[in-house]
Amino acid sequence: MFSKEKNDVKIDLEEPKILEHSQAHIKQTIKKTTSTITMIAAAGKNNELGKDNDLLWHLPDDFKRFKQLTTGHHIIMGRKTFESFPKPLPNRTHIIITRDKTYTTTFKDCIVVHSLESALKLSENDTTPFIIGGGEIYALGFAFAHKIELTRVHQDFESDTFFPVIDENNWALITEEYHPKDEKHKFDFTYLTYSRR
Ligand SMILES: NC(=O)c1ccc[n+]([C@@H]2O[C@H](COP(=O)([O-])OP(=O)(O)OC[C@H]3O[C@@H](n4cnc5c(N)ncnc54)[C@H](OP(=O)(O)O)[C@@H]3O)[C@@H](O)[C@H]2O)c1
Repeated sequence: MFSKEKNDVKIDLEEPKILEHSQAHIKQTIKKTTSTITMIAAAGKNNELGKDNDLLWHLPDDFKRFKQLTTGHHIIMGRKTFESFPKPLPNRTHIIITRDKTYTTTFKDCIVVHSLESALKLSENDTTPFIIGGGEIYALGFAFAHKIELTRVHQDFESDTFFPVIDENNWALITEEYHPKDEKHKFDFTYLTYSRR
């Protein structure tokens, strides 16, 4: 198990446990939808995701893959991830989750909602809506996702945000593709695709 200490509070970063009564409801939701709800993330050796609301590496091929997979689709994200972008990503519908009922954005193709369930409802006609982070929204997304596209970066990083540990009892690794470091990529990394068992 991986955990982080923050202000002396131990935060459990295991795959979030789902209460039994909500489990039936979630299974229904997962089964009912015709979409493949996909979480897409890049994480370091210890599931590091980011620090000071920024990413930890620059991996152009991973960016290209992210662009290729998500273009034309709904991308669902937490308010902090949205605000970490210099501007919205082209050719994608952004759905931003916040608890702040007064939060608005004037950018085109950006919609504000107040729960992951609402974000998924707005994406129900999309074959592949993507949950793109960050840590808080991935933790919520585990209950709904059918697939995880994880880029594992083979390095330790200093981080303040983490991806939950993937429980291999619930997720089957279906493909992996190793990418060694090179002049454009400072770290080795592997594309891992998981499917819900
Ligand atoms: N490596 C990667 O693949 C990757 C991908 C994405 C992001 N990141 C990194 O992750 C970090 C950001 O992640 P984060 O965990 O700090 O923030 P986040 O998940 O992007 O956003 C958190 C915000 O989402 C809203 N939220 C969370 N739970 C909610 C709920 N149940 N209902 C309604 N709204 C809810 C809240 O917004 P309000 O405060 O407005 O209420 C909360 O502050 C950055 O460092 C970013 O660079 C990394």
